[in-house]
Order: sequence, then structure tokens, then C-alpha cells
Amino acid sequence: MAYSAKVMDHFQNPRNVGKIENADGVGEVGNAKCGDIMKIYLKIEDDCIVDVKFNTFGCASAIATSSMATELIKGKPVSEALTLTNKAVVEALDGLPPVKIHCSVLAEEAVKAAIKDYYDKNGIEYDADLFGESGCSNCCHCD
Ligand code: FES
Repeated sequence: MAYSAKVMDHFQNPRNVGKIENADGVGEVGNAKCGDIMKIYLKIEDDCIVDVKFNTFGCASAIATSSMATELIKGKPVSEALTLTNKAVVEALDGLPPVKIHCSVLAEEAVKAAIKDYYDKNGIEYDADLFGESGCSNCCHCD
């Protein structure tokens, strides 16, 4: 299985690893198939993501996509972070092997879960459709 240089870089030197105390939004998602877990913490000021950290217990692809996803949403308005897709994360990493694409879905789902947590904690109204299914049925096998 061939990984791009960017995937290897973000796996070996993941950005924004850690935890934010008193985070404004926390999202945790798991992959039912492989048991991998991703947790993302957001610090939000004036509707902008001023800091983001993550912890991922998972495969190389899950760690690389978590790292890239945090880089893509850092400093961005919350509304823009909500539009992040696993496809955009995979493209930013110069691709993933087909059997690992579903690993990237964890990052998109964790970011959305953290933003939903932020909205819920602050009583901000939102369209529930924004947090619907990502479309991944986790049907692939991880090896
Ligand atoms: Fe579980 Fe990649 S996320 S194998």
C-alpha cells in the first residue's frame, strides 16, 4: 500500500496533537469496524476557530487525516469549518489508498461533532441537516 509523502509527513509529525482545557467544543467519533477513535477540541472566539487539538487512537491514515483536518480549519470561521469534507482532506494529503478512504471520514465527523457540541453548549440554533450522516457506511475493511 503506497502512501503519499504528505500522508507520511502528517503521520510521523502530526500537527496540533493534544487536548484543550475548557474547550468550547469537543467532538469524539469512533469507527465501529476497526474501533479507532478520534477526539477533537476547539477553542472558538468571535465565531472563529482560534485553536484546535486532536487525539486519535488509530491507523496511519486516521492520524494523518486528523492532522490535516486541524490544519485546514485552524483560523477559519466556524461556518467554513462546517463545510470541510473528507474529500477535501484526502485531496490536501495528495490522496489515500482506496481501502483507507473511510479512515478520513472520522476527521470530518469529529470536526462536525465538535461544532455541534459548541452550538449546543451556547444555545446557538442550527439546521440539523448539517450534522446528518456523512454518507460513509464504514463498509470497507481496515487492514
Ligand atoms: Fe480504522 Fe483507519 S480508521 S483502520
